[in-house]
Amino acid sequence: MNNEFTITPWEVTGEIDYDLLVERFGTRKIDDALLDRISKYGELHPLLRRGVFYSHRDFDWILDMYDKGQPFVLYTGRGPSGHTHIGHLITWIFTKYLQDVFGAKLYFQMTDDEKFLFNENLTLEDTLKGAYENALDVIALGFDLKKTKIVVDTECIHTLYPIALKVAKRVTFSTTRAVFGFDNSTNIGSIFYTSIQAAPAFLESEMEKHNVPCLIPCGIDQDAHFRVARDVAPLLGYYKPALIHNKMFPSLMGSDKMSSSQPGATIFTTDPPKVVRKKIMNAFTGGAVSVEEQKKSGGKPEVCSVFKYQYYLFEPDDAAVNDLQERCRRGQIMCGECKKLLADRVVTFLEEHQRKREEARIHLEEFLMRDP
Ligand code: TRP
Repeated sequence: MNNEFTITPWEVTGEIDYDLLVERFGTRKIDDALLDRISKYGELHPLLRRGVFYSHRDFDWILDMYDKGQPFVLYTGRGPSGHTHIGHLITWIFTKYLQDVFGAKLYFQMTDDEKFLFNENLTLEDTLKGAYENALDVIALGFDLKKTKIVVDTECIHTLYPIALKVAKRVTFSTTRAVFGFDNSTNIGSIFYTSIQAAPAFLESEMEKHNVPCLIPCGIDQDAHFRVARDVAPLLGYYKPALIHNKMFPSLMGSDKMSSSQPGATIFTTDPPKVVRKKIMNAFTGGAVSVEEQKKSGGKPEVCSVFKYQYYLFEPDDAAVNDLQERCRRGQIMCGECKKLLADRVVTFLEEHQRKREEARIHLEEFLMRDP
């Protein structure tokens, strides 16, 4: 097995060892005691039960504060480099669950600036347009209009800039170089950027003029930004933002992360049913070389992208997902049938999502934060 892997906000390669990441990054695993505690506030989300959200920083502190009557604000975001794909929805669906359970306010950042700076081929017009398109997917998930603000960086810069400046003043070039792997050829916008991603974590504290705890649900690949933000927070008189991390959503080709740069292995929320079915029918599975062989020795759900899709998102019933896994292992279900089951689920989900996504256009303006 090749155990080399890289995980930064801009690159995920190799087979990720999630336990090792917890050690490398110095986060904490969400253990049974914490799960038990969370279950007191509301039914555990399948993403928690199944360990897709598996790591955290100070989530227990967030709950301590909440218990004392100090509510927290949620913050997550999206780099609008293109259409939203199903992998992005994982974090957002879970954020919506947290909003519902804890009645929390949410800031959702759209980093059109980031995707412009880090992507040679995208113009600012592209990424701004992407921000508005992606916002429709966010709204379609049903966030509470009264408690949710979508923050498009280039359009809310008046609000973000003073906070970003305070952060930037405390972060040296040598830190960003070490944390993000920058070098002398990195453009200076990229070097500054982490202070923009830090800013919404402190936005509520600035608005309310007293400190408000902030919880950031995010992919573990984003942790680097918030390590920096957490280091500077006390220097600026803020609470350190807390984090809850999800594993990367797998690609249909079997690798660890679904990526927009591999359109055939990625399901976009705007894909029509035919396209979705085709992508799933071509997916990498844990099947054997022949039907006879598979009937005899079974399939390997642990490496199968089709099974992972069911497990991560599309089969919320634990008994049903276990049953599927067992039948696969015993050679009682073949890949063709399994793919069809998943394709039906995904198509049903997307038809509904696409309808809500169109409806969301009416509410878009109300969800956007605007500079004063
Ligand atoms: N950098 C993230 C991306 O590329 C977008 C983002 C901004 C974000 N703020 C965030 C993600 C907070 C999670 C939490 O997708």
